[in-house]
Amino acid sequence: MKSVDGLQNALPPVCRTLLIPLVARARGGECFPALACDDAAAEQLLGQLDLNLQPYLQDRATVQNILWRTQVIRQAGQDFFREHPDSLGVNLGCGLSQHFQWLDQGHNHWLDTDLPEVMALRTRCLDAGAPRQHQAELDLRTPGWWQRLGLPSGPAHKPVFVLCEGVLMYLSPAQVQAVLAEFAEQAPPGSQMVLDTMSQVGRGMARLHPTVGPTGAQFLWCPASNDELTRPHPRLRLHSRRSVAECYGWLGAVTEACWMPWTGTPLYAMVTLSV
Ligand SMILES: C[S@@+](CC[C@H](N)C(=O)[O-])C[C@H]1O[C@@H](n2cnc3c(N)ncnc32)[C@H](O)[C@@H]1O
Repeated sequence: MKSVDGLQNALPPVCRTLLIPLVARARGGECFPALACDDAAAEQLLGQLDLNLQPYLQDRATVQNILWRTQVIRQAGQDFFREHPDSLGVNLGCGLSQHFQWLDQGHNHWLDTDLPEVMALRTRCLDAGAPRQHQAELDLRTPGWWQRLGLPSGPAHKPVFVLCEGVLMYLSPAQVQAVLAEFAEQAPPGSQMVLDTMSQVGRGMARLHPTVGPTGAQFLWCPASNDELTRPHPRLRLHSRRSVAECYGWLGAVTEACWMPWTGTPLYAMVTLSV
């Protein structure tokens, strides 16, 4: 058994948040069977770690959000790779996730990227992955990351599927604008970027969050409108947006209709941008 305290304490606050989705994908299905994602890689990894799961599983709203977003991502990725079967997928801020277990279509490629500390942890904890699965270090705060990762650029290349889940809310608004602008500037036509957004009521409130609070990370980017997602670059288009309210049926729809004039965006949403 590896002690997670040792692993976690060596990480900066924002990197410590990676255990939250890992536990949700591994064990959250016990709380929400209809949303269970059967994440074999997360389950196997948790089996090696000496981690108290209770605080994570007691944060039921977060577990539900993560399982729901995993479904949305799987659907978006499978749709994308059905249309572009030998394209590349990139996970920006991958943490210890293994989405290629669901999105490997036999000919596509996948690149997992995160800060150096996290990539070192991945190497220690996770198997190398499938032959067409690669990894690289990344800091989204430093412009030029698209080229540094060697991602295809320009109209002659195939579209790229970009995933950025549970990451952008920890960057400043200016840093997120730069990330979106770089994606739009560089990505080949037809590329998509799947990301999650929190409502502006969450900005600066991470200390009140049951599982993010203890990590010391903070919610910095919480857009007030959809325009904030497409404004960074003229090529950006809002391809789709889904709200977690859909998990709650008609009650969710009614509650959200009441909230939206105040919050501007859903409390938690999955957005796909395209170029
Ligand atoms: C909540 S975790 C999400 C991890 C993963 N996407 C998942 O859903 O399992 C946040 C991740 O964002 C990464 N991250 C934060 N700031 C980053 C940056 N500037 N560049 C790259 N990754 C970053 C962290 O290292 C961490 O792995």
